[in-house]
Amino acid sequence: MAAKIIEIKNLNYFYPDQTSALADVSFDVFEGDSLGIIGPNGAGKSTLLLHLNGIFKNGGHIKIAGLDMNDTNLLQIRRRVGVVFQDPESQLFMPTVFEDVAFGPINMGLSEDEVKEAVAAALKAVDMSKTSKRLSHHLSFGEKKRISIATVLSMNPEILVLDEPSSNLDPKHRRDLINLLKGLKLTKIIATHDLELVLEVCSRVVLLDKGQKVVEGDVLDILSNKALLETHSLEVPPSVKKQKRSNNLGYMIFSS
Ligand SMILES: Nc1ncnc2c1ncn2[C@@H]1O[C@H](COP(=O)(O)OP(=O)(O)O)[C@@H](O)[C@H]1O
Ligand SMILES: [Mg+2]
Repeated sequence: MAAKIIEIKNLNYFYPDQTSALADVSFDVFEGDSLGIIGPNGAGKSTLLLHLNGIFKNGGHIKIAGLDMNDTNLLQIRRRVGVVFQDPESQLFMPTVFEDVAFGPINMGLSEDEVKEAVAAALKAVDMSKTSKRLSHHLSFGEKKRISIATVLSMNPEILVLDEPSSNLDPKHRRDLINLLKGLKLTKIIATHDLELVLEVCSRVVLLDKGQKVVEGDVLDILSNKALLETHSLEVPPSVKKQKRSNNLGYMIFSS
C-alpha cells in the first residue's frame, strides 16, 4: 500500500471576522493519489488548500511527507507542495512570463541552465512556450491561469494542489489541462466545481459542506450518488448519467 503523504487531523479555521471556515476536518492522502475536493460555494475548499503549504496554520495537525507543519519545516514543505491559487493574479508578480516561471527554480538554487530547462519544460506542459518574453499582466485570464500552473510545475513538486484549475479556460485548454493532469504522476489535490474533470482525473473525493467533511470515498461512488450530491448543491455529472443509461453493466467501465 502507498505511503501516507498528507495527514490532516481535526483541522479548524476561523477567519478574523470569526467566520468558521473549517470545522474538525480530518483525512489522509496517499502517495500518488489524485484527490478531488468538492462542495458548494463557501464549503471551505479554498481555505483547506491554503493550509497545505502553511499559508494558514495552527488550526489543527497537518503532516506532509513526514514533516509536521510548523515554522521549522515550512520551507521544506513549500518545496514539496506546489499550490496553484484560484486567482492567477495572486500567483504572478514578476514583469515577464519567463521571470514568473523562473522565480521558484532560481530560489531553489538551480543553475542558470537548469532554470532555463525547468522553465521551458513547464511552459511546454501548459502550451505557453511562445509566451516566455511576454508581460504577464498582458495575458488573458485563461493564459494567466496556465502560467500560474507553470510557475508551480517548474519547481517539480511532489504534491500538486490546484484551486479551481479549469475555471475560465476555453474548451481546448480545459481539455489540455485534463490531459496534463492525467499524465502527471505526482500526488494531486484538486478543489473544483468541475465534476467532469474530477471524474476523469481523480480517483478519490472528499466532499465538504459548511466547513465540514461530509464524506470521502471512491470517485464514482460519490459522483453517482444523486441524493448525496443534491443535498450539497451539486449534481451528478452528465458522463456518469450517460454511462448509466447506455451500459447495462453499470458505469464502472467509464472511460474518457
Ligand atoms: N477572507 C475571508 N474573510 C472572512 N470569511 C471568509 C474569507 N474567505 C472566505 N471566507 C468564508 O469562509 C468560508 C469558506 O470559504 P472558502 O474556503 O472560500 O470556500 P470555497 O472555496 O469552498 O468556496 C465561507 O463561509 C466564506 O464566506
Ligand atoms: Mg474556493
